[in-house]
Amino acid sequence: MYIRVLGSAAGGGFPQWNCNCRQCAGVRNGSLRAQRRTQSSIALSDDGVDWVLCNASPDIRAQLDSFTPLQPARRLRDSAIAGVVLLDSQIDHCTGLLSLREGCPHDVWCSERVHQDLSSGFPLFTMLAHWNGGLRWQPIGLDREPFQIPACAHLQFRAIPLVSNAPPYSPNRGNPQPGDTIGLFIEDLRSGASLFYAPGLGQVDDELLGWMQRADCLLLDGTLWRDDEMRICEVGQSLGSDMGHLAQSGPGGMLEVLEGFGRQRKVLIHINNTNPILDEDSAERALLERRGIEVAYDGMDIVL
Ligand code: MLT
Ligand code: MN
Ligand code: ZN
Repeated sequence: MYIRVLGSAAGGGFPQWNCNCRQCAGVRNGSLRAQRRTQSSIALSDDGVDWVLCNASPDIRAQLDSFTPLQPARRLRDSAIAGVVLLDSQIDHCTGLLSLREGCPHDVWCSERVHQDLSSGFPLFTMLAHWNGGLRWQPIGLDREPFQIPACAHLQFRAIPLVSNAPPYSPNRGNPQPGDTIGLFIEDLRSGASLFYAPGLGQVDDELLGWMQRADCLLLDGTLWRDDEMRICEVGQSLGSDMGHLAQSGPGGMLEVLEGFGRQRKVLIHINNTNPILDEDSAERALLERRGIEVAYDGMDIVL
């Protein structure tokens, strides 16, 4: 299984266009040792030719431009994107579909909840129906049964419902329901290697820990270091827990959770611009290194 990190930042990217916090200013003026990052999305493939896009970021144009295998190569109008899976209905994970309109129809796998949000509060399915068949919804069930995407037949996908938060335009905002956010457990049927991908993860329970233990590689929500980081950085009032993102530090935080995972490759993704792990000289980044936890970057390749 080939995994390409197209974008590793949370909503807003890094630097965020309107943010003058220490880190955003620092990466702009060169005083901070850090890499710029686009908004979160990965691409998966079983052969390096046909790819499944997991989430479609608002930065998709730049992301496609930066990765040759996704560019047209076979016909006059062409794409190596053979399917799209959406893990939630958030702006940073779905807006890229608008930029793919010239290539409609696209097959889009998502839960019924996500399909509802994207047909009402953020009506991408409705709008894109005007472009050559638009988005063809491929429902993902929440029964943990495996599903497959024909162009990557050696990969087997499973949706694991997660507790995170639904977006502000969802009727479930503040009261998330199963299917608002999923994680993906993806197995390569040839090698048996597996990935667990969850860029939005607010709470950990025993079932989730079981899927994580089964996986060889964990690509997990790295939004915030501290639950109150937005307040400390004076850029907002929301806590990570309000937004449905489990912070890395603190009791029950992601670092504590990951102490139980020795065998797995552990990578954080969907990193907010306020998170000190983006600063390559920070104490927090050094702590991750000591714990064997990697920080995803745009252009990162993982082969399982
Ligand atoms: C989130 O991950 O909580 C959202 O994507 C935030 C946003 O709207 O950018
Ligand atoms: Mn997000
Ligand atoms: Zn910032």
